[in-house]
Amino acid sequence: MGESTKRLPDERQRNRLWTAILSLSVVVLVVSTSYRLANVCLTEEETAALEYDPCCDYPCMNLGVCTSNEFNDYTCDCTGTGYYGIKCTIPEIGTLLSSFIPDAISAYGFLTSHDWFWNIVNKNHGLRDQVSARLYLSLSDFTDSPPTFESDHTFITADAFFNDSLFTRSLPPVPIRCPTPMGTKGPKELPNIDTLVEKLFARKEFHPDPQNSNLLFQYYALHFGRQFVQGPGSGPQLFKGTGEMDASHIYGTEEKDRQLLRSGINGKLRSQILNGEEFPPSLSDNADMSTSQPLKNQSFALAHPTFSSSPGLFVFATIWLREHNRVCDELLKVHSDWDDERLYETARLIVSGEVVKITLVDFVQHLSQYKLDLSFNPELLHETRFQFHNRIHAEFNHLFDWHPFVADYLLINNANYSLKDYSSPLDPVFNEGIDKFTEALLKTRAGVITAQNHGESLYPFLKEALKASRQLRFQGLNAYRRKFNLMPFGSFEELTGDKEIASLLEEVYEDINAVEFYVGLLVERSDSSISGVTMMNMAVAWTIKSIYSSPLCSQLYWKPSTFGGKVGWDIIQNTSLQKLFCLNLRTLCRDFQFTVLS
Ligand SMILES: *[C@@H]1O[C@H](CO)[C@@H](O)[C@H](O)[C@H]1NC(C)=O
Ligand SMILES: *[C@@H]1O[C@H](CO)[C@@H](O)[C@H](O)[C@H]1NC(C)=O
Ligand SMILES: *[C@@H]1O[C@H](CO)[C@@H](O)[C@H](O)[C@H]1NC(C)=O
Ligand SMILES: *[C@@H]1O[C@H](CO)[C@@H](O)[C@H](O)[C@H]1NC(C)=O
Repeated sequence: MGESTKRLPDERQRNRLWTAILSLSVVVLVVSTSYRLANVCLTEEETAALEYDPCCDYPCMNLGVCTSNEFNDYTCDCTGTGYYGIKCTIPEIGTLLSSFIPDAISAYGFLTSHDWFWNIVNKNHGLRDQVSARLYLSLSDFTDSPPTFESDHTFITADAFFNDSLFTRSLPPVPIRCPTPMGTKGPKELPNIDTLVEKLFARKEFHPDPQNSNLLFQYYALHFGRQFVQGPGSGPQLFKGTGEMDASHIYGTEEKDRQLLRSGINGKLRSQILNGEEFPPSLSDNADMSTSQPLKNQSFALAHPTFSSSPGLFVFATIWLREHNRVCDELLKVHSDWDDERLYETARLIVSGEVVKITLVDFVQHLSQYKLDLSFNPELLHETRFQFHNRIHAEFNHLFDWHPFVADYLLINNANYSLKDYSSPLDPVFNEGIDKFTEALLKTRAGVITAQNHGESLYPFLKEALKASRQLRFQGLNAYRRKFNLMPFGSFEELTGDKEIASLLEEVYEDINAVEFYVGLLVERSDSSISGVTMMNMAVAWTIKSIYSSPLCSQLYWKPSTFGGKVGWDIIQNTSLQKLFCLNLRTLCRDFQFTVLS
């Protein structure tokens, strides 16, 4: 539009133009007549298929909102994008100026290199805090707050905010009336899931993580992720839970379950002694729990039914149970006059604070590979534009399906447990002892998130995730890269860094812009990282946002009295992955990290 008016210098050319216009009109007339004629023979469905939603083509740039109008027309709403013009392509002055200041994701390369620079910053705590605050704010800008989209509509709705059992969406679903499942790009039908699994994801040999992450890291991610989403709702767009870091993976989501897990004495959680050590209570005592659908011989009452389906998750459930009861003992030392209720509620706040801190200082630090020391200091964000509210994204939920981490086998005391053995019952924990089992988690390397690194027993989970991502009509990987201010990939090889995988992908997706979100995340080149840059940055941005949007970090909660005074305050300030394990395992106290120790 508006670009076709060229000045024509002489009569001859003007004549040529008229001839062109005339012949074009004839063509249009013929085509439209034949179209109308052809239409007579088409069914209604076929007619509908001929015309598609113009927004399928994603014409609006820079996150402008596309709205289709009648007659295959559309408008772009550029409000708040920093751009204007028909397709939101012309930057405003402010946008031009601010483009010189890199955001946290564009600066990822810098944040993960230049050790000498970060050494200086880390030594100067004032400077470090300033840099951290900017980093946290910049990362939180990638999460829309309040939430805007959900999975049932391609446009903004009131329910996206008010119905809080709906996952929110970073990007709305692909419009329904589109020529291809990904909009206008790629094949008419998405590639067969079984073929994808077999060709792209099946592990031929184990690829270990170049960052040396261990299985403790893998299970931490799995365990803490459960507090956001306790379980699927009745469809992939719905979830149970609060979507917040509420420590519901330790206490349960519903009041009924929380009551059942409590002992009623000194604020403590119910437990049982096995082999002289404290473990979660048995299920028969707590048969009424809403989470206790008997899962594969489950015999323990836990905040989440899957926690007894895998020994690694069971270890974390046990350690946090012990920590809660330990915190109660500490509180009781200074508050012997407090009743069970007050001790329990206060210990719950303290433990929630510990979860938040360890997730930042140990987990995100390792995941991000930032050279900046991430310090836990909620005060940094007080009185800034940061919003203390969070809703879990459907994309976040998918992204955390980190199956390639899972190794093929685990050596404990020279006993070789294959993946099948140790990903199901709890035998290794009780046969070898929780200390020995935890040590094995520390010593075993996790896999890298990349193509062809899924163990066979994980195929069903992978297929389920791929199926759900199609039901949710996620936009392609490149659309998400734009949303997170990353350059879209230009070719399959640029995406994968591997010729063979690139040609496999090209065969099934045809166009780089048609590569599905979750598939793209999994096959992206990981270089020397745990995963590709896209997955890493999205995971870090969303995790940081959920950490700091915990109410505990707000001005009203973040004070010693919330945590029973100095006693609880110090517990949170001093906690770390290392302390958590050392204080709660009988014999094992060594350097607890998320990397394999030599
Ligand atoms: C939220 O949305 C789901 C799915 O549309 C619906 O079943 C549920 O009733 C809604 N909840 C509320 C509180 O509106
Ligand atoms: C439960 O365990 C018993 C023996 O330990 C076994 O025979 C049975 O198959 C298991 N059931 C399930 C559902 O895993
Ligand atoms: C452990 O068992 C697996 C097969 O289950 C085997 O591939 C691996 O080599 C064994 N490892 C050791 C150290 O024995
Ligand atoms: C915890 O930290 C405080 C300072 O915040 C310190 O005085 C105290 O000794 C520490 N306690 C433990 C058990 O490390």
